[in-house]
Amino acid sequence: MKRKRVLSGMRPTGKLHLGHLIGALNNWVKLQDEYDCFYAIVPWHALTTEYADPSKIREYTLEVARDWLAVGLDPERSVIFVQSDVPQHAELHLLLSMIVPIPWLERVPSYKEQQRELPDKDLSTYGFLGYPLLQTADIIIYKAECVPVGEDQVPHIELAREIVRRFNHLYRPVFPEPQALLTKFPRLLGLDGRKMSKSYGNVINLADPPQEIEEKVKTMFTDPNRVRRSDPGRPEVCNLFPYHRLFTDPKKTAEIENACRKAEIGCTDCKRVLSSSLVEFLAPIREKRREYEEKPDLVRDILAEGAKKARAVAEETMSEVREAMGLAGI
Ligand code: TRP
Ligand code: SF4
Repeated sequence: MKRKRVLSGMRPTGKLHLGHLIGALNNWVKLQDEYDCFYAIVPWHALTTEYADPSKIREYTLEVARDWLAVGLDPERSVIFVQSDVPQHAELHLLLSMIVPIPWLERVPSYKEQQRELPDKDLSTYGFLGYPLLQTADIIIYKAECVPVGEDQVPHIELAREIVRRFNHLYRPVFPEPQALLTKFPRLLGLDGRKMSKSYGNVINLADPPQEIEEKVKTMFTDPNRVRRSDPGRPEVCNLFPYHRLFTDPKKTAEIENACRKAEIGCTDCKRVLSSSLVEFLAPIREKRREYEEKPDLVRDILAEGAKKARAVAEETMSEVREAMGLAGI
């Protein structure tokens, strides 16, 4: 039986944090058991917003690669690569740009949202408008059927489906319609209870050393009504408690829940427990990550090997596309 194909991607934004792990990477690791997986780091997508200062993109690409390998994305089973090492994505993006009506791109919600959220950046560019079209090319060039993404990406996958239908109808059926695979896990909130995001400075990175984890956990928001140690707490509204559910063993978590409600444990002690759970949980990831940091050539080789495999598949699709669009043999 042929395995279904998965493709997903991440922009190189620097070191990855617990939100990436819980919201995406744990799932990506699991998908390797059942699917033929392609995972791409996508510098061209980073350029759509960072074009004025691309100086970090290279280093960030390596940081993401280290994190991916450290959490268990496995180059023996998955194709792990960098988008810009596969120029066929750009060719497909260009050819798709011939058939996509501009209003389809303008109505993708993230287009206007991002322009509003990043007022310091001039995002009135052609490339930024084409962001979801480039994403479409990333996906369909591998004929991926499943795309593990968060809720926010669903409109992008919808666009990809519409483009596929248009292409297949105009020329001939080359592409399957990709489907979003939504991750079940709720998003893990940041230290301050807002969305976990590097730009808010409220994240715990996978690479954080123990001391930094302890310091960050100390700053975490808890039940806002629990002012004194003698006030009973409410784990269900506490921003920290969901972390115990994920990282502290279930028996201890149940004890903490109980003790919190009865004011038998203070937030300081509760945080100490969480710190040690997190330190223990992240230790093997940090250790593996350090090994990859010390062997940059190994990471480069893995990415080069991944790009080679990706290019072979992408080139095969592009021959079909060139043929379908009347470009073969010119
Ligand atoms: N837009 C995605 C994000 O911001 C990143 C991405 C680029 C992607 N290409 C992709 C995700 C292809 C899935 C498939 O998270
Ligand atoms: Fe939250 Fe723990 Fe404080 Fe209870 S004791 S409010 S769970 S930090």
